[in-house]
Amino acid sequence: MKGVILDRFGEPKDVIHVADAPIPVPGVGQVRVRMLAAPVNPSDLMTCRGTYTKIPSLPFAPGYEGVGVVESAGPGLFGKFLIGRRVAMLTGDGGSWQEYNVIPARQAVPLSQQIPIDQAAMFFVNPTTAYVLTREVLKVPRGEWLLQTASGSALGKMVIRLAGHYGVRTICVVRRSVQAQELIKLGADEVIATDEQDLHERVKQITGGKGVRYAIDPVSGELGSRVIRCLAPGGRLVVFGTLSHQPLQFSSRDLMTPGATVEGFWLGNFMAKLGLLKKLRIVSKVGSLMKKGILVSEIGKTYRLDEIKEACIEAERTARGGKVLLRISDQ
Ligand SMILES: NC(=O)c1ccc[n+]([C@@H]2O[C@H](COP(=O)([O-])OP(=O)(O)OC[C@H]3O[C@@H](n4cnc5c(N)ncnc54)[C@H](OP(=O)(O)O)[C@@H]3O)[C@@H](O)[C@H]2O)c1
Repeated sequence: MKGVILDRFGEPKDVIHVADAPIPVPGVGQVRVRMLAAPVNPSDLMTCRGTYTKIPSLPFAPGYEGVGVVESAGPGLFGKFLIGRRVAMLTGDGGSWQEYNVIPARQAVPLSQQIPIDQAAMFFVNPTTAYVLTREVLKVPRGEWLLQTASGSALGKMVIRLAGHYGVRTICVVRRSVQAQELIKLGADEVIATDEQDLHERVKQITGGKGVRYAIDPVSGELGSRVIRCLAPGGRLVVFGTLSHQPLQFSSRDLMTPGATVEGFWLGNFMAKLGLLKKLRIVSKVGSLMKKGILVSEIGKTYRLDEIKEACIEAERTARGGKVLLRISDQ
């Protein structure tokens, strides 16, 4: 089979290549999935650079999520039941940028045929994070403001639709003012474009000087640090990404004065702590919000496996639009 391999850390285009490997054989409790499609996510690119939360041992087969069809199963009941089913997967062990991947059967989630393949390929990382962050972690009440940065990201757009669905009002921060109209059309209540507007001043205007009680930031660096100064008394900021590749820098007084907090979130850790029943409930909720068109991603350019270097470059192009998707094989 063909698969993408990372054998040193660095710029993705310089350190990954497509190689031939034997088709993997599933062991006890595992299934072999013929991969159909997988996205190129920021976490995949950080893994190639060696800057992600988990540093894998090398060589490593990148790709943390995707969709495929279960072809065969090792010993174990559950795996046999999955044969022939279309499944979404999230695996910390990587391997979704390959023609075949072997994963534990319990990590293969059978999906309704109503969910298109492109959306199924991105079932976990962004949709589940958007849902969990807003509904399970922050539990933003109806009518409250939620401020988010990188609002034009795939996840940011999901948060806008999700907030509309649950009656939460959004302040959507973007770095380019040309994005404002699109986000307003999508349902954003307010858009702040940092190339033209002062974040802190605009948040004060919008909230009548109070600031926001709920905020989420995947950018970090200077922008994330400025969000801290927009928090209301008792406000909470959840940080969940480092798109700027820069650390937060702020005065402790910015938290002390309002009694505000900054918390970190990583989906892998959050899901690992849940019991099976709760996990199933979340998966089912995400599936139903996907079918309603709320937790969906726009698809940008699509690539074949042997175009992986171009796909990685495109995934980080400013103003790229929809998500970059690898089409690994046809149905
Ligand atoms: N912690 C977790 O468990 C978890 C789970 C899922 C996702 N995430 C994080 O969520 C974030 C969004 O993911 P995604 O897949 O939705 O991203 P995406 O669709 O690839 O979009 C990235 C967006 O970030 C914006 N951006 C990039 N660098 C920026 C910067 N320095 N300042 C301001 N904006 C910047 C881009 O703006 P332009 O349109 O202007 O180019 C683009 O809209 C990522 O950081 C990802 O790692 C975290």
